[in-house]
Amino acid sequence: MANKTTKMKAWQLHAFGLENLSLDTVEIPTPKPNEILIKVGAVSLNFRDKAIVDGIYEPEMVPKPLIPVSDAAGTVVGIGSDVTRFKIGDRVISHLYSHWIEGTPAPNEPDFCVGMPLPGGLAEYMILEEESAVLTPSTLTDEEASTLPIAALTSWFSLVTYGNLKAGETVVLQGTGGVSIFGLQIAHALGARVILTTSSDEKGEKARVLGADEIINYVKTPDWAKEVQRLTNGKGADQLLEVVGGEGLNDSVQATKVAGQVAVIGFMAGQTTNLDLMSVIFKQTKVQGIAVGHRKAFEEMNKAFDKYNIKPVIEKVYSFEQAIDAYKHLAKGAFGKIVIKIS
Ligand SMILES: NC(=O)c1ccc[n+]([C@@H]2O[C@H](COP(=O)([O-])OP(=O)(O)OC[C@H]3O[C@@H](n4cnc5c(N)ncnc54)[C@H](OP(=O)(O)O)[C@@H]3O)[C@@H](O)[C@H]2O)c1
Repeated sequence: MANKTTKMKAWQLHAFGLENLSLDTVEIPTPKPNEILIKVGAVSLNFRDKAIVDGIYEPEMVPKPLIPVSDAAGTVVGIGSDVTRFKIGDRVISHLYSHWIEGTPAPNEPDFCVGMPLPGGLAEYMILEEESAVLTPSTLTDEEASTLPIAALTSWFSLVTYGNLKAGETVVLQGTGGVSIFGLQIAHALGARVILTTSSDEKGEKARVLGADEIINYVKTPDWAKEVQRLTNGKGADQLLEVVGGEGLNDSVQATKVAGQVAVIGFMAGQTTNLDLMSVIFKQTKVQGIAVGHRKAFEEMNKAFDKYNIKPVIEKVYSFEQAIDAYKHLAKGAFGKIVIKIS
């Protein structure tokens, strides 16, 4: 490491609640033989990060103090003696399910999630096992790359890894948050037709600029599933990313075609649902649970971001010292992502 100092600034969560997140001075960690030390350039926030701070996301698993935030991008400045995947100076991104490399997930993947229970990236430096990082797409800055690990990979894993999305197919996306805007950009780049629902006509226009073909205002048109059926000549969409959750899952089944895929991702409107099984049975809907994705899919996605020149949509970049304001912004919702620049 060029910098000889042994101390760094890190935000640490000492107890649940945003008021218990403080900017502390701590030791810079030393990489073990299979680990890399990263000078963090930027992190991005997800719903999960706020839920962890609020104590409503697996609270019994949260160590104290915790350096939070899973999604980070930066530069390798130190490597352990056994590291072969990376060298000093490589630009890398963290991988949330840090031990899930490919194939079927192991039952204990959540035990190895970056940002909780493992330390996260809201610090000047962070440690990752070398298997838990991927190279940054060459076309992206650290601020842009920090948005990929959860929101982008979740969309890619749903649409492409599970959904095998093809040009000409139709995708329904709900709202204009991080997951849905990446879903829009990926689907549009792959030549799919995008129908996007939103509460705001203004956000709908911004989504059109990014490539959305049809916009449905779900406040003005509560039966948006019927509108999707109309827009697809009664066939229904090929795929839908369900980020809202709750009872709306029934609408999502209605909005998709026979044997279409509903990727169950979010739970903003509730973690349980009364699903009409007869609709699922007669339509033979594929209801696919999604937990972000594995590293192989992350690496494939990064190549696609370079190939199609996809630029993450960032609503605001906060400074390291303004981390609390960034969390408060996240709570209000954003068009795309919220980023904290660190160095
Ligand atoms: N399973 C996984 O692997 C995984 C990964 C990532 C995220 N998630 C979950 O997915 C959900 C979304 O995450 P995110 O990061 O995209 O959230 P976000 O950035 O906070 O997006 C929230 C957006 O959802 C839209 N929305 C809210 N209620 C809606 C409704 N009834 N119908 C349609 N849209 C609605 C709103 O868009 P408008 O303002 O345009 O109306 C809102 O801005 C969260 O529950 C999160 O925990 C799960």
